[in-house]
Amino acid sequence: MIEIAQPDDWHVHLRDGPMLGRVAGETARQFGRAIVMPNLDPPVQTTEEAVAYRQRILKSLPENSSFEPLMTLYLTAETTAAEIQRAADSGVVFGVKLYPKGATTNAEAGVDRLDKMAPLLEAMERYRLPLLIHGESTDPHCDVFDREEVFLEEWLAPTVERHAGLRVVFEHITTKKAVDYVSEAPDRVGATLTPQHLLLNRNALFAGGLRPHHYCLPVLKRERDRQALLAAATSGDSHFFLGTDSAPHSRSSKESACGCAGIYSAPIALELYAQAFASVDALERLEGFASHFGADFYGLPRNRQKRKLRRSAWTVSENPSGDSDAPQVFWAGQSLDYQLVDEG
Ligand code: DOR
Ligand code: ZN
Repeated sequence: MIEIAQPDDWHVHLRDGPMLGRVAGETARQFGRAIVMPNLDPPVQTTEEAVAYRQRILKSLPENSSFEPLMTLYLTAETTAAEIQRAADSGVVFGVKLYPKGATTNAEAGVDRLDKMAPLLEAMERYRLPLLIHGESTDPHCDVFDREEVFLEEWLAPTVERHAGLRVVFEHITTKKAVDYVSEAPDRVGATLTPQHLLLNRNALFAGGLRPHHYCLPVLKRERDRQALLAAATSGDSHFFLGTDSAPHSRSSKESACGCAGIYSAPIALELYAQAFASVDALERLEGFASHFGADFYGLPRNRQKRKLRRSAWTVSENPSGDSDAPQVFWAGQSLDYQLVDEG
């Protein structure tokens, strides 16, 4: 049995409508708080929209849940400095998400150049609202496996340098290059790591056939990248913290001629991270990564409640709801060595 402070998820997609009703309780069962991504259709662009979305999330939680959704705004060409200030003052919005235009699910309203955004980034510096970055180049000539590295060189590093007070989260990093950059970066730069990028390399996309449930963005990378990510997560370096990027899509939209990007890990997220940490005998480092460093980065108190993970092998259910179009849970049919003990 291991006991750690209640973890938080610093990057999750909860969606809206019926999918929200299906997935919100799963994240709330695992985590105390979560940074909720704004890539709805239409995107969450204003504080008012974020407040309304937060209410819909709270309504879809089980009774007695103490889960706290931490909201974000979607950065577009229309975002204003006044909106950034409103968001920072709201007590409800904790970050602004930058999607390069077209980079991923519902990113069409994203940003295609950063130079014009300088006044907004200055407002984020002023009001201490972090910029959360999906770090992939959208240049159509850029190889899919090089997108993170090219983005890092062309957009991310220059932005961090130019805006000396800007707090930046390099979301769901996937490469050794990104690990090396973040480890050397000032403390105002952090990075989230997903369970799939700690557990799998890109071979998993093609193991015995095409595996749509292993397709996410940024796409899985090489084994040497996976090892660098796992070393970073288990290093005790507070730049790196937990962010599942759990991104549910219906089964039919994943198992399709043009399948959606996204891996749904919320129901077993902590068990997956425990599996990854145990694989390098580093479970004693899980608490910092899962429960401390993210809260510290966002300037929020660490959770006081405790959670336990019991050591016992179990198999992840293939289709717990019985609905054939429900989002497929990552790792379904495979075994895990730890199981989260339910509270209460
Ligand atoms: O795989 C992904 N799915 N990556 C993202 O950046 C977005 C997410 C989604 O919203 O489906
Ligand atoms: Zn995401």
